[in-house]
Amino acid sequence: MSTNTSLRSLLSGSTLPKNEAKILLAFVLEKHYQLPRSALLSRDEMELSPQALKQWKDVEARRLSGEPIAYLIGKRGFHEIELYVAPGVLIPRPETEILVEIALREIQKLNRPANILDLGTGSGAIALAIAHLASQALVIATDQSPEALAIAKMNAEQLGLTDRVQFSEGNWYDALDDDHPSTQFDVIISNPPYIAAGDRHLNEGDLRFEPASALTDGGTGLSCLEVIISQADLHLKPGGIIAVEHGFDQSDATVHLMKMANLQDIQVYQDLAGHSRATSGRKSAT
Ligand SMILES: C[S@@+](CC[C@H](N)C(=O)[O-])C[C@H]1O[C@@H](n2cnc3c(N)ncnc32)[C@H](O)[C@@H]1O
Repeated sequence: MSTNTSLRSLLSGSTLPKNEAKILLAFVLEKHYQLPRSALLSRDEMELSPQALKQWKDVEARRLSGEPIAYLIGKRGFHEIELYVAPGVLIPRPETEILVEIALREIQKLNRPANILDLGTGSGAIALAIAHLASQALVIATDQSPEALAIAKMNAEQLGLTDRVQFSEGNWYDALDDDHPSTQFDVIISNPPYIAAGDRHLNEGDLRFEPASALTDGGTGLSCLEVIISQADLHLKPGGIIAVEHGFDQSDATVHLMKMANLQDIQVYQDLAGHSRATSGRKSAT
């Protein structure tokens, strides 16, 4: 007979949305019993040990107070990889996969070893998703946050990509100064902080728990995009491409920044919700 600590009664008694309760209970099962998620159904009479029950109550309470699921379970899927994530880094978003796709298309077209730069790598999401699929890509991933870089390096090790992804700490392109001063890139990718200071979204949902330095530039939202785009020409090979993510209402401003930087073949990309979410531009080939 089931008691109030059986999997079934814990799930039915939780006030969390069902899908969230299942993810968190599956996490506890995996951690304490190395059981797969399917055990939620196949062993729903199973009673949790006192330690497992304590952890379930802890993650349930923290989720009820708003902590992101990805931080509670320590991972998030992105493109075709899984990343370790913790409060020091942004939780990778599905819309950022647009940048990975742009880079992969470009690498495929080049059909030779390609030099890629990922500015503001966070968990390493973009850099590692590219390197995972493109064996000809050599990627440099930068961030100004040592905490983020430590997590990105752990992910590179976990995914076996340390030979093709290098990490550098510093402010945007300054991070290249010591080790790669004259490297020019086939592809520059960045998902910089682009939310304006005071935007109400910063006080909503997962964003309340993510590092402010990953979300906002503390100003209009455009200052990081401006630095990254205006200096792209110096760091791109002739014919190279830069692609950046931006807010749904920042595509006009981003296109303008690309025109000011003499970039050509400017294209805007929509996310799955139909919002303008990324823009690319190309350095002249001559
Ligand atoms: C929106 S997050 C993107 C993280 C990751 N690329 C992703 O898409 O999931 C922006 C990242 O830029 C980094 N960053 C912010 N200001 C920076 C700066 N001045 N120079 C380098 N990196 C910076 C933050 O630490 C953060 O990791």
